[in-house]
Amino acid sequence: MAQDSSKPAFWESRYRDKIIPWDAGKVPAALRDFEPVIARGARILIPGCGSGYEAAYLAGRGFDVLAIDFSPAAVAAARKNLGALADIVRLADFFDFASGPPFDVIYERAFLCALPRKMWGGYSDRCAELLKPEGVIAGFFFFADSLKGPPFGTSPAELDALFKPQFERVDDRPVADSIQVFTGKERWQVWRKPQKP
Ligand SMILES: C[S@@+](CC[C@H](N)C(=O)[O-])C[C@H]1O[C@@H](n2cnc3c(N)ncnc32)[C@H](O)[C@@H]1O
Repeated sequence: MAQDSSKPAFWESRYRDKIIPWDAGKVPAALRDFEPVIARGARILIPGCGSGYEAAYLAGRGFDVLAIDFSPAAVAAARKNLGALADIVRLADFFDFASGPPFDVIYERAFLCALPRKMWGGYSDRCAELLKPEGVIAGFFFFADSLKGPPFGTSPAELDALFKPQFERVDDRPVADSIQVFTGKERWQVWRKPQKP
C-alpha cells in the first residue's frame, strides 16, 4: 500500500479496498448546528470530500457547494452518494485547481490531518487565497501528539501559530459524536479571514 499521504495513490488504494476508518458514514452534529448560521446561498468548498455526506447535506440545503477530492475512487463514492447532485463533486487537487469565485466557507473534516505536516503552511495559505474577506474555515481539528499519521495531530499552540497570522478563531467547542479514531481528540472550530489583512 502507498505510504505517502500527499499522493492520490495513498487514498485511492484505501478507498478501493474500503479501508476507510475515518469515514463517519454520517453528517456530524456540529455541522448541523452550524448550518443555520451560514448565509443562504453561500458558496462552500469541501476539500478532500471523501464519500461526500456533508456535500450531499449542504447542497440539499440549497448552498452552492463544490466538493473536491484527488482520489478517483473517493470521487466515485461521493458522486454515488449525491445521486442527482453528483455534478458538484470534482476530481481536483486542493493546492492546484481552478477554483472560480471565492468561497464563503471552507468545510474541514479529516483533511488537514490527512496532509503531512510540511504541507500545513500551504493549506493555511491556500484557504486564505480561496476565501472571501470574512469567509471562514469551519470544521473539525484533530489534537494529538502522535508523530505518525495520518491522521497527523496538532496542538492548540501549533494550530494558533498556523492560522493566527491570517485568521481569527471565532468558535471552539468539544465534539460529542466523534467516531472512534477521533474520540476525545477533536474540536469544532471556526476561523474567520478578517475583512482586511
Ligand atoms: C482522511 S480522508 C477524509 C475524507 C472526508 N473529508 C471524510 O471526512 O471522510 C482525506 C481525503 O482527502 C483527500 N485528499 C488528500 N489530499 C488531497 C488534495 N491535495 N486534494 C484533494 N483531495 C485530497 C484524500 O483523497 C481523502 O479522500
